[in-house]
Amino acid sequence: MRESIGTAIATPNIAMVKYWGRVKNEYNMPLNSSLGITLDFSLKTKTSVVFSHKLDRDRVIIDGKDRIAGQNNEKIANLIFVMNKLKKESGIDRGTHGLVVSQNSFPSDAGLSASSSGGAAFVLAANDALNLALSRKQLSILARHISGSACRSVYGGIVGWKRTPADGTEESYGEEVFAWDWWPELRDIVVILEEKKKKVPSSMGHDITPKTSSLYKCRPEYAEQSFEAALEAIRRRDFDRLGMVIMRESNSMHATMLDSMPPIFYLNDRSLEIIQASEELNEGSGHIKSAYSFDAGPNPHLFTTQRYRNEVLRMLDGIDGVRMIIEVGVGSGPQMSEEHLIDDNFRPVLQHSKP
Ligand code: PMV
Repeated sequence: MRESIGTAIATPNIAMVKYWGRVKNEYNMPLNSSLGITLDFSLKTKTSVVFSHKLDRDRVIIDGKDRIAGQNNEKIANLIFVMNKLKKESGIDRGTHGLVVSQNSFPSDAGLSASSSGGAAFVLAANDALNLALSRKQLSILARHISGSACRSVYGGIVGWKRTPADGTEESYGEEVFAWDWWPELRDIVVILEEKKKKVPSSMGHDITPKTSSLYKCRPEYAEQSFEAALEAIRRRDFDRLGMVIMRESNSMHATMLDSMPPIFYLNDRSLEIIQASEELNEGSGHIKSAYSFDAGPNPHLFTTQRYRNEVLRMLDGIDGVRMIIEVGVGSGPQMSEEHLIDDNFRPVLQHSKP
């Protein structure tokens, strides 16, 4: 049998209501609900997967580097776990190994949620390579095992992911709640301040914060309220309301991170400057024009609408240290591709221009 290569392109899903904290040892079963926007193809991850008995081991190559599963790289270990699960499901023989080649069009370690697009692209590509025809829900569950936020990236539009119910055992997955074209004016202005690898991987933070932060005790309930408030604001296309939820959510999550022991902080001086500048822009106008949101890194996502984007860009002109600005809209979700990153001899294909 000729091995078939599966290739998918997925994009990050950026949370407006943030997932932070998981049920222990359960492959990213979340302690609170979250809600995120799947971005358009301005930021993307392309991943090819092939399975063959001609390969002597499982290999994962991301942005040209071999990635090894280990204590500090839980997501790669999770990916190998999912790969083995899929191998078993497809019934291929035990001597068959997998090769994964993945390339990001943006800095992958800077807290821009490369693991959400990477996890989603991997499960879609592997599903295709093995001809499994799994449903989106099944793919979302598998992507969640790799990185929580990846369960949202397998869908386009605005995607919800409900918290783990108290009785615990049910599977957890994302669901599209608004189609990608529900609110075409929505924008995420991604500001790159730093491209360095973050010191504390999110996978560690999800365990440390619930265990050590006393502020965290109020966090899951607050996130549930934010989830409902964000849904209502999006339903009405009311950016003043949505922007307020976005900023308070980001601040709430980062407060619990700082309250953790050891403390976790991802923001730098420039991030704080951008919070301040956004506050000034909003306050002076009586509207929310720049709604900042930070994930596990210093680089802001400035949510805005088409109407205010020029003002937000002008605001950024006054900030030193901005390396790159990428303006992104709401995306329609992952796509399959026939242009593979693996050749017929199982070698990674070098792409000179990023995908
Ligand atoms: O998907 P993970 O395990 O990298 O966690 C994502 C955490 C945040 O990006 C901070 C929030 C979110 O909901 O995406």
